Amino acid sequence: MAKKITHEVEAEIFDYSELSADEKALVEEAKGMLDHAYAPYSNFHVGAAVLLESGAMVKGSNQENAAYPSGLCAERVAIFSAGANYPKEKVKMIAIVAKPREGKDYVMASSCGNCRQAMMEYESKQGEPIDLLFVRPNNEILKTTVGDLLPFGFDSKSLNG
Ligand code: THU
Repeated sequence: MAKKITHEVEAEIFDYSELSADEKALVEEAKGMLDHAYAPYSNFHVGAAVLLESGAMVKGSNQENAAYPSGLCAERVAIFSAGANYPKEKVKMIAIVAKPREGKDYVMASSCGNCRQAMMEYESKQGEPIDLLFVRPNNEILKTTVGDLLPFGFDSKSLNG
């Protein structure tokens, strides 16, 4: 007889005005990256900002390529840059913002499977959750963690048995 299991995940939705000063600052850094996106194929601009434990911020935007799969999402540009430049620092929080095109409201880019996996690696490595702030339409922010975004995730613990 099969045993049914459920894996609950948590997320909270805030109004932008309810965020802490640190959270607002990170979201603003991510918004500022929308203009840096190189997205001539999708026109979908994404900005990401990573907050490290020292307070340093590392930013990224999506970078597309004529050979489509060679491009990279904003989240991975940012988190790989954080890992490359600050290898010893823990990641506290990542803000992610997306816009289909200029003049439109933000849409929630909830991070693709590859980015969830990439962010999971850093959460697993540091043994502490990474908070995620996703900007949604109407000035809303969805707050969750990488673990909540990737239930049943695969990490080094699985690899080592
Ligand atoms: N993209 C991101 O940068 N982050 C996401 O969470 C979703 C998708 C990028 C990839 C591609 O450049 C464009 O958005 C359309 O998929």
